[in-house]
Amino acid sequence: MFTAGTVIAATAIYLLMLAAFFSARQRRFHVPVMIGAMVFDFMMPFYLYLTKDWYRRLVTEGELTSFLLWTHLLLVLTLYMLYAMQIQSARRILRGELSLRTDHRAQGKAVLLVRAFVILTGALMVETPKH
Ligand code: HEM
Repeated sequence: MFTAGTVIAATAIYLLMLAAFFSARQRRFHVPVMIGAMVFDFMMPFYLYLTKDWYRRLVTEGELTSFLLWTHLLLVLTLYMLYAMQIQSARRILRGELSLRTDHRAQGKAVLLVRAFVILTGALMVETPKH
């Protein structure tokens, strides 16, 4: 089976996020890891756009009507919205509103669930290089 570097990198970061999730009290570890993961996830679409032949896949080969592609896209948008919520609650926690930890934790679980499905649906669309 061919596994793309992007999938391996995204999975490695997922494992780091899991570690940061379970050691959230160590802010010096938790905050940079989460911010780094978000930056990575925001850069990924740009990287894919610049390095892949989208016109061939989406237009010539008609993948624009693929159910998997649109599912993946909606999951990515959901993830970005959850990230926005995480940043908001994190800022308030840092300002001293510690009661928001419960919300931040619950949203965090949603982040991990949605991000797992983003990686899975992305992995299913990886093209095997032709020999
Ligand atoms: C911009 C990104 C983020 C920042 C700046 C941030 C910041 C923080 C801060 C300051 C705390 C409180 C730590 C303490 O009071 O000692 C915290 C707790 C926590 N964060 Fe984040 N976080 C971010 C993203 C995330 C994400 C993406 C997840 C989940 C994948 C997550 C999961 C948690 C969990 C589970 C806690 C513990 C809540 C509790 O005490 O029950 N965070 N975060």
